[in-house]
Amino acid sequence: MNISIFGLGYVGCVSLGCLARNGHNVIGVDVSETKVKQINSGLPTIIEKDIDHIIREEHNRCRISATTDFDRAIKQTEVSIIAVGTPSSTTGHLNLEYIFKVAENFGHVLREKGRFHVIAIRSTVLPGTSEKFAEIVERVSGKKKNVDFAMVSNPEFLREGTAVYDYYNPPVTLIGSEHAEAADKVASLYKKLPAQVIITDVKVAELMKYVNNTFHALKVSFGNEVGNICSALGIDSHKVMEIFCADKVLNISPYYFKPGFAYGGSCLPKDLKGLQTLAHDHYVKTPLIESIDKTNELQISRAVEMIQQTKKRKLGFLGLSFKAGTDDLRNSPAVALIETLLGKGYEIAIYDKNVQLSQLTGTNKEYIDTHIPHLSRLMKAQISELMNESELIIVNNKEKEYVEILSNVEEEHPIIDMVRLPEDIRKKKNYKGINW
Ligand SMILES: NC(=O)c1ccc[n+]([C@@H]2O[C@H](COP(=O)([O-])OP(=O)(O)OC[C@H]3O[C@@H](n4cnc5c(N)ncnc54)[C@H](O)[C@@H]3O)[C@@H](O)[C@H]2O)c1
Repeated sequence: MNISIFGLGYVGCVSLGCLARNGHNVIGVDVSETKVKQINSGLPTIIEKDIDHIIREEHNRCRISATTDFDRAIKQTEVSIIAVGTPSSTTGHLNLEYIFKVAENFGHVLREKGRFHVIAIRSTVLPGTSEKFAEIVERVSGKKKNVDFAMVSNPEFLREGTAVYDYYNPPVTLIGSEHAEAADKVASLYKKLPAQVIITDVKVAELMKYVNNTFHALKVSFGNEVGNICSALGIDSHKVMEIFCADKVLNISPYYFKPGFAYGGSCLPKDLKGLQTLAHDHYVKTPLIESIDKTNELQISRAVEMIQQTKKRKLGFLGLSFKAGTDDLRNSPAVALIETLLGKGYEIAIYDKNVQLSQLTGTNKEYIDTHIPHLSRLMKAQISELMNESELIIVNNKEKEYVEILSNVEEEHPIIDMVRLPEDIRKKKNYKGINW
């Protein structure tokens, strides 16, 4: 395929060499004449393992070249990859000046180009940037997105120092587009790579790099806070984290990664507090660990706000325990939420199949009678009672019984969902998910 790459820095130079090595003809475009000259002399613009001989060999095979003439590069190619810099501005915002300058270049050239063109943004950009890029192209060229050209978000995951290796071994190949053919075309550039290809919405793809890198930073800082606590206690931090990482079921796994309501139960809040206090007693600062509880409280406040916004006063809670399949009410965030709402004068009804059962068998009865007798009085024996009385249903766990009832509830019945109910319920008219 004939490809142009805008920006010949780390990402652009590696993509230029590696795409050529996979058999494509690639033209690099940069505003820096020095970088253009380097490529045209068979030299890389960056220092990275293996990139020097790749650029030299592909230059000798005449599969790569570079230019400052964006007009020629766009006209001679069918796909353009944008890899210009997106630095932080002095205020910490993303500086998209280079990206939008390139968009204007495309607008001028596409005005005259008759053939369909695919523009893939490989730079790290915030959600909505592809959309704005396309608006600029449309405004300057008079052409139409998805008719004359298409946008693709195709973030790069390479790390400096292992950039060529990472190019050929990415964790995933991520493509966001609303144009199926453009998505397939960009995906085909990477068909020789061993990674899973994920084609998704543009904004999902745009956000991914930020979510990934924030998580990487979180991991480093979490490991360091745990390390600092270990060090104060004379415990080998590396042994601790090696064992932590050996747990691929709950620790290094998709578990706990589902956006939803606050955590609770008898273990997480208690043990988090335990570790925090231990650190404090040894004069170790752990701001990251300390902030976890604050984030959790904010999730409860968020639910309160969502409920207030509905202006409904008669609330029905499906689920009181901290998760489905248990009657454990200790530190259940639903209990905290209901107590806050009671304080604000709401009328509340609660149904929880497991708590109901445990009250009858006496297993959790003592806890309920001593700790939350005021909530116990709000509990309904039948789910139908709650459904009939409530103007707004708040779903706190995903028991099969609740899902079935809610699937059949009338289309307009307002629902606030903390647990991500199935799609048929999510599509109902007055349904709201806590964070989706
Ligand atoms: N460096 C990394 O490890 C890495 C990894 C993944 C993603 N990214 C992202 O990729 C993007 C590029 O990063 P980089 O490190 O390669 O940047 P870089 O600063 O090394 O290179 C950017 C290049 O773009 C050129 N440029 C600027 N304006 C231009 C224009 N109008 N037309 C053509 N060229 C232009 C610059 O001259 C420069 O050579 C950024 O968004 C970055 O966040 C970087």
